Amino acid sequence: MTELDGKVALVTGGAKGLGRAIATRFAAEGATVVVSDIDADGAQAAAAELPGGRGHAITCDVRDEDQVQGLVERTVADHGALHVAVPNAGVGSPCPLLAMDLAAWRSVLSVNLDGVFLTLRYAAPAIIAAGGGSIVTLASVTATTGSPLIGHYAAAKAAVVNLTKTAATELRPQNVRVNALLPGFVGTDLVTAARPGFEELLGLPAGGFDGLIEQKQGRYGTPEEVADAALFFASDRSGFCTGSGLVLDGGLDASLL
Ligand SMILES: NC(=O)c1ccc[n+]([C@@H]2O[C@H](COP(=O)([O-])OP(=O)(O)OC[C@H]3O[C@@H](n4cnc5c(N)ncnc54)[C@H](O)[C@@H]3O)[C@@H](O)[C@H]2O)c1
Repeated sequence: MTELDGKVALVTGGAKGLGRAIATRFAAEGATVVVSDIDADGAQAAAAELPGGRGHAITCDVRDEDQVQGLVERTVADHGALHVAVPNAGVGSPCPLLAMDLAAWRSVLSVNLDGVFLTLRYAAPAIIAAGGGSIVTLASVTATTGSPLIGHYAAAKAAVVNLTKTAATELRPQNVRVNALLPGFVGTDLVTAARPGFEELLGLPAGGFDGLIEQKQGRYGTPEEVADAALFFASDRSGFCTGSGLVLDGGLDASLL
């Protein structure tokens, strides 16, 4: 199937993890995909491996307004249009609220919220100019639950869900749909890097975090499962969805215990 044939898509934070899986899925469905990341070498490597030679790398720090504006302008200049944007770049590591200084708070909010706002702010006019399309934000199940030790991260993700809804209603007349993905824990470097910190702060033995995940959501999700959901929101199959959020968490959010 080629659900995104002829479309141009932009994925921030696309060098690895969920962004890379989403870029790969989109390219397999016929899209030309701009893989953008703060990691220039990583973006180049990921873009080079996309199916059909349809990947193109552009280095961009989503915290920097000029860089984000340049990213969208270059995408349109190089590929003629923009139809799909995935503000995916994100960071986060565990820290209790009372140990969190303002710099740590802002370091997460600047990527996970400012970066989403900036990407949406500059991508949406380009998508409107192309006649419409789709924006898929990467929130998290923590947007609905909150979570100990990642208060900055969860607050940013809750704001992303809210921003997604506002953007959906403001952009509906211009044929731009905006939807959010809310994954639980997925096996990427983001989670692997955070695992020892969670274990220490939660008093778990080494490896204990994996047991907690198994108890809460059965297993880790896979990047490919998130990419499938991103494809749904990016494609015409979700034509009546806007302002919505899809939780992919193995049931974590469904149960108190
Ligand atoms: N992995 C999970 O369990 C999970 C769950 C829910 C939501 N998410 C969200 O999905 C998104 C991707 O997460 P992931 O697990 O793939 O993370 P990851 O750490 O594997 O990859 C994140 C990518 O973002 C890039 N990045 C970081 N800061 C950037 C910046 N300022 N500008 C541009 N790029 C930047 C990194 O270089 C990296 O390539 C994030 O928004 C994350 O919060 C992840």
